[in-house]
Amino acid sequence: MPNPTHIQGVSIASLADEFGTPLYIYDGEKITAQVKTLQAAFAAVPLKIKYATKALSNINILKVIRKAGAGVDAVSIEEVRLCMMAGYTPSEIMYTPSGVSFDEIQEAVGMGIMINLDSLPLMEQFGQTYGGSIPACIRINPHIMAGGNIKISTGHSESKFGISIEQLPLILEAVAKYKLQIVGLHIHTGSDILDAEVFLRGGNVLFEAAMQFSNLKFLDFGGGFKVAYKPNDVSTDVIEVGRKVGEAFQEFCKKYGRQLELWLEPGKFLVSEAGYLLVKANVVKQSPTAAFVGVDTGLNHLIRPMMYDAYHSLYNLSNPEGKKVKYNVVGYICETDTIASHRELDEVKIGDLLVIKNAGAYGYSMASNYNSRLRPPEVLIWDGKPQLIRKREDFEDLIRNQQILEF
Ligand code: LLP
Repeated sequence: MPNPTHIQGVSIASLADEFGTPLYIYDGEKITAQVKTLQAAFAAVPLKIKYATKALSNINILKVIRKAGAGVDAVSIEEVRLCMMAGYTPSEIMYTPSGVSFDEIQEAVGMGIMINLDSLPLMEQFGQTYGGSIPACIRINPHIMAGGNIKISTGHSESKFGISIEQLPLILEAVAKYKLQIVGLHIHTGSDILDAEVFLRGGNVLFEAAMQFSNLKFLDFGGGFKVAYKPNDVSTDVIEVGRKVGEAFQEFCKKYGRQLELWLEPGKFLVSEAGYLLVKANVVKQSPTAAFVGVDTGLNHLIRPMMYDAYHSLYNLSNPEGKKVKYNVVGYICETDTIASHRELDEVKIGDLLVIKNAGAYGYSMASNYNSRLRPPEVLIWDGKPQLIRKREDFEDLIRNQQILEF
């Protein structure tokens, strides 16, 4: 895809004038289109999309996703509350905790939210408290190594997530002991998964385990579709996944004797490419070994390059036809803070606007105040109009909760 200068007809440069930089920009149309693509890919099965809230949790984004016809997966009670504020009904929210306190589980149950039980002790406690009165899901660890890198692989045998498939007899024991009402089984093997085969392998683990449960309503395949980060990069062929997994799922349902729902929990697929981080060049400097562009953002706003060695495409919006120069694009945080290494860009001058792509997923949601920097505003382009959906932080926000002692 060519580097956009406009989103839904709105000039990106004009957004810098109106809202300043750094600035997170989201294309609401693109998010809606991604939901529709996934719905079409899985049209042959009763599909429920449960957007992984953690990818980008601004309430307005959650509203866009609900409008497109998807539900949500939340991983904290705070995310559950954000989803409720966005208008989701409890039945549209799944809570997939990872080792949280039982108080939080009780709070979610009290709100009428389904819990995805992720450990045997939690199953015990849940059974002791509720018996079979509350329908629940079980998160299985299928022992599948998948995903772009080890930090984002969650379904392998050494991962903290879920209950090992090898412990299925213990799961069944707990279910029988407390007469638990298990209505769903869940897996999530990782993020940046390219191959349909991985989803099929996960499916086979689910299908086999599912035969031991008589009251299932859905099987949840988790998220993890890979999106394109680099120019000419490959992304998961969701049409192929939909066809292959859909067929296998329908086969299974026949064997199971009942039509179940197929759930998916995409994060990146729905929002990654819809997001842009618009930044400004503060510094351009040449060292004996490299040319550096220093921008007015850093790992405090977009941690993916430093945390996962993630590649984010970026381009010079201000000088689109400039001569090509190789740069290290670096953030302003006072530690090694590389956004892009040895990257060819149209020549950059101080004050030029650069656009960092794929900033929708795990961008703002992982942002911090490190170096006591303020978080940027967020703008949603909706119906061809830019709307501020989160203000830029100010110094007051930074000190709001500090108690200043008198010495
Ligand atoms: N479901 C569950 C239970 C998850 O833990 C996750 C992501 C998803 C769904 C959505 O996965 P996605 O479709 O976005 O790949 N911060 C990392 C990604 C961590 C993902 C954690 N779990 C990154 O920026 O690459």
